[in-house]
Amino acid sequence: MSYKILEGKKGIIFGALDEQSIAWKTAESVSDAGGDFVLTNAPVAMRMGTINDLAKKTGSKVITADATKMEDLNHLIDKAQEILEGKIDFVLHSIGMSVNVRKGKHYTNLNHDWMTKGWDVSAVSFHKLMQCLYQKNAMNEWGSIVALSYVAAQRTFPNYNDMADNKAYLESIARSFGYFFGKDKKVRVNTISQSPTLTTAGKGVEGLDGFLKYAEKMSPLGNATAKECADYTVSLFSDLTRKVTLQNLYHDGGFSNVGVSQDVIDFFT
Ligand SMILES: NC(=O)c1ccc[n+]([C@@H]2O[C@H](COP(=O)([O-])OP(=O)(O)OC[C@H]3O[C@@H](n4cnc5c(N)ncnc54)[C@H](O)[C@@H]3O)[C@@H](O)[C@H]2O)c1
Repeated sequence: MSYKILEGKKGIIFGALDEQSIAWKTAESVSDAGGDFVLTNAPVAMRMGTINDLAKKTGSKVITADATKMEDLNHLIDKAQEILEGKIDFVLHSIGMSVNVRKGKHYTNLNHDWMTKGWDVSAVSFHKLMQCLYQKNAMNEWGSIVALSYVAAQRTFPNYNDMADNKAYLESIARSFGYFFGKDKKVRVNTISQSPTLTTAGKGVEGLDGFLKYAEKMSPLGNATAKECADYTVSLFSDLTRKVTLQNLYHDGGFSNVGVSQDVIDFFT
């Protein structure tokens, strides 16, 4: 199913590492919907991932940028406008990383330098990106900026570790910057709070397999896949959602509003 609702729109997609990445699926869905974009990722991801295959498939260019570095972001935004021949209509921030999660550090025994690194990559990079876009006046009116989040920003999931705090910070930045982007430039800023998903970042969370099954049983519609998240993001980039802003939008099959499901009760009875 494909509607060309992004025909004529231009954007930047951060975070496509491999075929599992939510950003990868989003690039495919945006392309199907008629949108043009530049792909970007950190230098290390260029070496490890397969982003050039995606670029070929979607007819897009790749520009390397570490999202924590203002000089990289400045270069990216200038270059993207050059390639796309105009201002930007949509941006996806699909970036997350915790050194403490990677190295198996328990939340009660964090390395705070790693914690700082993790929040710079996972949350502050969103502020840096928006500041660049805002100051360069790089977004078209009624443009849309989306970042990906997780319900651990609101509720405790012990294995999510310091990523929970990073996501709370990310969601707050979306609201705070979204106010000024809306008021001054008529641009939307939202976060999507996605179901647990089997990706490189997702697999880093201890016990993800068990948790995926639990979330599936708790969600009336089941877990949302990366492809479904991609399609939802297309709707947020389109003109059909022009007055949606400053929101954290749950895309989780209903998980976040369920206290307990019958499936879970049956399991324990
Ligand atoms: N997988 C899940 O269960 C899940 C659930 C909800 C939200 N999310 C969020 O979705 C987003 C995408 O993650 P994913 O699950 O597709 O995993 P992924 O590992 O495919 O994507 C994470 C991306 O972040 C990029 N990145 C890391 N450091 C960077 C830097 N300094 N500069 C630029 N890019 C950098 C990586 O290269 C990678 O492409 C993340 O924000 C993640 O927290 C994931």
